[in-house]
Amino acid sequence: MANKIVKNAAKPSLERLEVLKNRDILSASELNKEELMIILETAAYYERVLIEKRKVYDMDNKIMASIFFEPSTRTRLSFETAMHRLGGSVITVAESEQIQISSTSKGESIADSIKVIDGYADIIVVRSPVKGAADEAAKVAEKPVINAGDGFGQHPTQALLDMYTILKEKKNLEGLTIGLLGDLKYGRTVHSLVDFFSLFNCNLVFISPDELKMPKDITQNLQKKGIDVKESDNLQDIVDILDVLYVTRIQRERFEDRDEYERVKNAYVVDESIIDNLKKETIILHPLPRVNEIAVGVDKYSGAAYFRQAKNGVPTRMAILSLAT
Ligand code: NCD
Repeated sequence: MANKIVKNAAKPSLERLEVLKNRDILSASELNKEELMIILETAAYYERVLIEKRKVYDMDNKIMASIFFEPSTRTRLSFETAMHRLGGSVITVAESEQIQISSTSKGESIADSIKVIDGYADIIVVRSPVKGAADEAAKVAEKPVINAGDGFGQHPTQALLDMYTILKEKKNLEGLTIGLLGDLKYGRTVHSLVDFFSLFNCNLVFISPDELKMPKDITQNLQKKGIDVKESDNLQDIVDILDVLYVTRIQRERFEDRDEYERVKNAYVVDESIIDNLKKETIILHPLPRVNEIAVGVDKYSGAAYFRQAKNGVPTRMAILSLAT
C-alpha cells in the first residue's frame, strides 16, 4: 500500500461521521473546510478497506436511486460500484424512461418522478443537462439528493474526488498553484473545484480561449475572498509555475453555436512540449472523458494522474453515500 494517507487512514469518529447525515450535496459552496476534510478522511478509510479487500456493510439494506438524464460512464459506474462495495443496492430508470422524463420541458415531470423515487430509495443521485435540476429535486425529496452534474452548473462529487486525488498525490492542499485549462465557461467540474481551492488559499490561473472564460461572478467571488486569480490565454507562458494542471474537455453539448465550437475545439492540447516545461513534480488531472486535450503520449509521464483520479471516484463516493445516509 504505497500511499501514506491511505495507509494511516482510520474510520472517522462517530461525531465526525454524523456531520453530513441527511444532507443534500448540491454545490461545493455548501461544504466548509471541516466537512470537506471529513469526506476526504472517510474516502481514505474506504480506500484502505478496498485495498485490504475487507467487506463492509455500511449501506446494508439501503437503496441508492441512480437517476441520470444525461450520459455518464465514470460518475454513474463509480457511484454504483461504491454502493455495491458498501453492501447496498441500486435502482435506476431505463434509458427510454430517462429520455421521456428529461426531454419534457415541464418542471413538474421531473419533480413528480423524484417524489415517487423518494418513496423507494434512501438516497438519490441525479444528473441532468439542466442547471439547477438537482436543487429542484432536493426541494421535493425528503431523502438526501446528490448532484452528479447539473448542466453547466456544478459537479461537487467530481470536485471531491479531485481534491482527494490532489491530497494523495501532493500530500497537502494548502497554498498550491493550480492551472485550470480549457472550457471554464461550461465546465461544471471547475465551477465546483474553485470553491474548494478557495478554502486552502490556492493561487489560481485560468487558461482558456476568450469565449470560454470562467464566468465573471465566479471569478469576482473568489477575488472577494482574497484568492489570487490570474487569467491567461497562453498555457506555455505559465506552465512552469504550476503544482497542478487541471485540464477540461471543451463541452461540445453545451454550445448553442456549432461554428463557435468548431473554432475553439482544439484551442489547447497538452503534449510533450508542455510536459518538458512543467516542474518535475507537477501533476496533470482531467475529469475525463478526454477528446484530444491531452495527447496520449502524455499518459506515460509519472505526473499524469487522470486514470488514478478516475479510480479515486469509488472510495470518494463510498464516503459520500455512507456519510449522507
Ligand atoms: C465531467 C462531467 O460530466 O462534467 N465528467 C465526469 O463527470 N467525469 C467532465 C466532462 O464531461 O467533460
